[in-house]
Amino acid sequence: KEKVSVGLLGLGVVGSGVIQLINDHREKLTHQLGCEVEVSKVLVKNLDKTRNIHINGDLLTTNPSDVLDHPSIDIIVEVMGGIDQAKEYILRAFNNKKHVVSANKDLVALHGPELQEAATKNRCDFYYEASVAGGIPILRGISEGLSTDHIQRVMGIVNGTTNYILTKMDEEGMSYEDALLEAQRLGFAEADPTSDVDGLDAARKMAILGRLAFSTPVELSDVEVNGIRGIELEDLRYGKQLGYTMKLIGFANFNDQELEVNVQPTLLSKNHPLSSVKNEYNAVYVYGEAVGETMFYGPGAGSLPTATAILSDVSAAIKGLRLGVSGSQSNEMQFTKTLTPINK
Ligand code: NDP
Ligand code: HSE
Repeated sequence: KEKVSVGLLGLGVVGSGVIQLINDHREKLTHQLGCEVEVSKVLVKNLDKTRNIHINGDLLTTNPSDVLDHPSIDIIVEVMGGIDQAKEYILRAFNNKKHVVSANKDLVALHGPELQEAATKNRCDFYYEASVAGGIPILRGISEGLSTDHIQRVMGIVNGTTNYILTKMDEEGMSYEDALLEAQRLGFAEADPTSDVDGLDAARKMAILGRLAFSTPVELSDVEVNGIRGIELEDLRYGKQLGYTMKLIGFANFNDQELEVNVQPTLLSKNHPLSSVKNEYNAVYVYGEAVGETMFYGPGAGSLPTATAILSDVSAAIKGLRLGVSGSQSNEMQFTKTLTPINK
């Protein structure tokens, strides 16, 4: 095929970044993949909205069939968010034998295994690198780079909003409320920041990480969650005096057939590599039996960083298409172990 056709579901922060990167990196993509990547149709909610990206108006539609049933579209990129409708569209895409790339952590955390099963049944790829830690290639790092090791522990700063709030409180003495307002103004926080500050956003990402790191089904309800609401400047000052930094840490630990996954405010020693991760940055620390300590660091959100993860997935799907191995190489969600979640 000279061209591979992509359909976008959504043209917001991430969708616009995907269009921009496909345009800006066209030459490199064509050279690497041996074909052109073309966006053929884009589903939006509101056709009249002013967009901050230049796009041919004929590509936009409010009819999902124009994207999901488009005969020449091979890959669907779901960057619309939400759960029920996004799930319905992704399942329909698989039924239509289209590969799917999604950034939707809420959906993957809740229904990832079911979606993976539908993908496998239809011999399609399902990739979701952008769903955890935005631009950091952590899912591939775990499911490919460290796939032959026995991972024992994963610790992550996987929510930028809370890391930003804790950094500003710790370093500038800013109040919790002001720091949250600033994170909202800068665009890291979810529309409803409750899921950030109460730890649910991090819990979703830890459920996804836990599944991949330990090849075991982790439900969102298996993750014990405590957020940062209620943390006071005094708590941070006290920790600092003792040589600790407060971080919202997602933790997944595998021990004697028991898996513990939780999210909680944690006082980290200044010597721990995660303690130096500041502001809205994310990092995931992975300890493997053979490799020892590793850490993946970078921007956990934002238009172009997240679009970079999406394009790496699109590129993997295209390679699968060209090699005729689609459906056999997605992020592993094929569980080989049944571990007992510790808090059940
Ligand atoms: P936005 O709200 O900026 O964009 C959502 C887009 O989807 C809009 O273009 C909107 O249309 C369209 N849309 C939403 N619902 C529907 C619907 N029912 N039918 C048709 N179109 C719809 O979201 P983001 O780009 O920020 O996020 C997209 C996804 O990426 C989410 O799952 C999010 O969790 C995830 N993500 C986001 C990151 C970020 O930094 N923003 C980082 C990592 C993951 P319209 O423009 O017409 O309103
Ligand atoms: N609200 C999220 C965060 C955005 O603060 O990390 C990226 O998932």
